Amino acid sequence: MNFMDANLYEVHATVQRQCAIDLVNMCAPSTQQISSVLDIGCGTGFVSRALMTRFRHANYTLCDISPEMIRFCRNVYPNAQVLLCNAEEYAFGQRYDLVISNLAAHWFRDVEAFVLKMLKHSGCVVFSTLLRGSFESFFKLFEGTFPMDMYAAPMATYATRDEISQIFDRHSLKATVFERDYEQKFANPYMAALHFRNIGIQFPGNLRNAFVFKANSTPITLEYKALFVRVDA
Ligand SMILES: C[S@@+](CC[C@H](N)C(=O)[O-])C[C@H]1O[C@@H](n2cnc3c(N)ncnc32)[C@H](O)[C@@H]1O
Repeated sequence: MNFMDANLYEVHATVQRQCAIDLVNMCAPSTQQISSVLDIGCGTGFVSRALMTRFRHANYTLCDISPEMIRFCRNVYPNAQVLLCNAEEYAFGQRYDLVISNLAAHWFRDVEAFVLKMLKHSGCVVFSTLLRGSFESFFKLFEGTFPMDMYAAPMATYATRDEISQIFDRHSLKATVFERDYEQKFANPYMAALHFRNIGIQFPGNLRNAFVFKANSTPITLEYKALFVRVDA
């Protein structure tokens, strides 16, 4: 991901925003009092924003690997601790009542290591991630025309629900797992590609691909297949 402009993400990432709200509503503890939260791969902070309305007095730590996102968050959440870091490598120095992450885990090299690491920092780890099958219609456009895997990785290698569930089985973890699909319609594939760019996914910026997109005027739906997970340790 390459965020040229976090403000564009803030405006265009409507599915991510809805997914963040759903993640908070469906997975975050609702009765228990929360006083410290770690938001991993925070982006522009949709998750923390949703939590802040519920747990107004909690301490928030937001982290992201993108300097653009971090700059945005430092401006918008002056009372939060905002860290520029690779969450897979960074040594978080404390425990939190809740560790939460919306639609970032599919970017991680090792989701299993991430889950185990986060459980060292909290008894409640909540996250969403995209599943294999997401954006399938979009990929199909390129079948036989262009080696999309060169560009779209890691999209093409998103995990399946079973692969994620096996992590919890392997470590005898108590996890609640469920799926929800989201859809976003575009007038044509080129508009969908522009949308991807606006949310930080750099597609084939070269002319060859632009031609493939522009030659196709069929409406297209982007399918997001999200897996929601809550692990209690
Ligand atoms: C699809 S965005 C989701 C952002 C936000 N959670 C939301 O709900 O809109 C994924 C975010 O994860 C961040 N990210 C990806 N890999 C990361 C890593 N290893 N450590 C920290 N952040 C990471 C990206 O920079 C990006 O902001």
